[in-house]
Amino acid sequence: MENLIRKAAADLKAAKKVVALTGAGISVDSGIPPFRGKGGVWEKIDPDYAHIDKFMEDPADVWNVLIKDMKILIDKAKPNDGHKGLATLEQMGILEAVITQNVDGLHQMAGNTDVIEFHGSFAWQRCMICQKRIETAKVDISEIPPRCQCEGILRPEVVFFGEMIPHEALFRSRRLAANCDIMLVVGTSAVVHPAATMPMIAKQSRAKVIEINPERTPLTGSISDYLIRGKAGDVMNDIIAQLQDS
Ligand code: APR
Repeated sequence: MENLIRKAAADLKAAKKVVALTGAGISVDSGIPPFRGKGGVWEKIDPDYAHIDKFMEDPADVWNVLIKDMKILIDKAKPNDGHKGLATLEQMGILEAVITQNVDGLHQMAGNTDVIEFHGSFAWQRCMICQKRIETAKVDISEIPPRCQCEGILRPEVVFFGEMIPHEALFRSRRLAANCDIMLVVGTSAVVHPAATMPMIAKQSRAKVIEINPERTPLTGSISDYLIRGKAGDVMNDIIAQLQDS
């Protein structure tokens, strides 16, 4: 592991355009569970609850089973060393942008200034009737589903399964993936597309793909050049320390 940290630090230092792709794993140490694997949300809740058809059919049920707890966890979550490490890479002039599948806003809170929210953002709710936007932190969840003053039901500005990825996020992510020379892939199981296609686009464009994850993923051994096995916070701390020593 030690020599992979040194290798990653050297690769990052020599790179011209570094982009990160992050997933739920980077927020695990901020108290937000992953979706898959040990302690994953989908072990306890049917993933159908994250499908737009389910929300349209019974918004109260989806709010009760999935969204309410998301709000409670995200409202109190703070960036961990994984997020802070990526922010430090930006401040060092190494990292250009973060493409995140997460909706928790922790990359922005950590200090990254160019964050593409591939699956939208949980920071805002939108009225299903008048489209008024309300900050999630200000939404009163004593009544479920929460409603707008016009009585419309509120929905989070996240991408449910069955919905399109925001065009701007998709197009910019593709362009960044096609033009980077390193893609850091942190804390994603790389099974949900089109997000998981970004490392393939990077590889096709001759970029180096570096994974940070305690586990192997479908990218490991095929798309990624190497996997640094570990928790995002620990690995990022080691990489930053190596960069500061060199
Ligand atoms: N540090 C780094 N990686 C971790 C950590 C950690 N501390 N803990 C777990 N992981 C890894 C797991 O090994 C797994 O590979 O993070 C990954 C989490 O995978 P998922 O839960 O599938 O999260 P993600 O890849 O972001 O899911 C993609 O699926 O359900 C949808 O919309 C949801 O955006 C999500 C998408």
